[in-house]
Amino acid sequence: MSVIYVLNGPNLNLLGSREPEVYGTFSLGDLEASLQNWALSKDQAIKVLQTNSEDELIGWLHAAIKEKSSVVINPAAFTHYSYALRDACAALTGSGLSLIEVHISNPHARETFRHNSVISGVATGVIAGFGIDSYLLALEQLSRR
Ligand code: DQA
Repeated sequence: MSVIYVLNGPNLNLLGSREPEVYGTFSLGDLEASLQNWALSKDQAIKVLQTNSEDELIGWLHAAIKEKSSVVINPAAFTHYSYALRDACAALTGSGLSLIEVHISNPHARETFRHNSVISGVATGVIAGFGIDSYLLALEQLSRR
């Protein structure tokens, strides 16, 4: 299997200090270490990336399409309004590749504006509400496909 991209959107670089009661106390570094541990145990290459820029996130999705890579993506706030990101995700899944949308928290149990995802409709699947395990469950699922 080719490398799996694990993409993280805006403000996820602040994990650990940002609203710990919602997102937990683990940092982005802790998240990456835990995912790389999983990857090592499965002999699966993964690339864990984070950006606050929509442009960069879309560029990584284009790279994943080129490399025929599956994607785990936490689009963070872009989830709720970025049609440009949705189109890039649709290009990826439309080319037969898998994309799993993940969230650390459960957006449906939070403010109303978080209840809508413009990404879910073009994702292969969605996993939310399990902290770091949301990512691990997504990777597990991709490794089975
Ligand atoms: C999030 C949920 C989003 O609503 C929020 O904007 C985030 C993080 C999550 O992982 O729970 O930044 O995607």
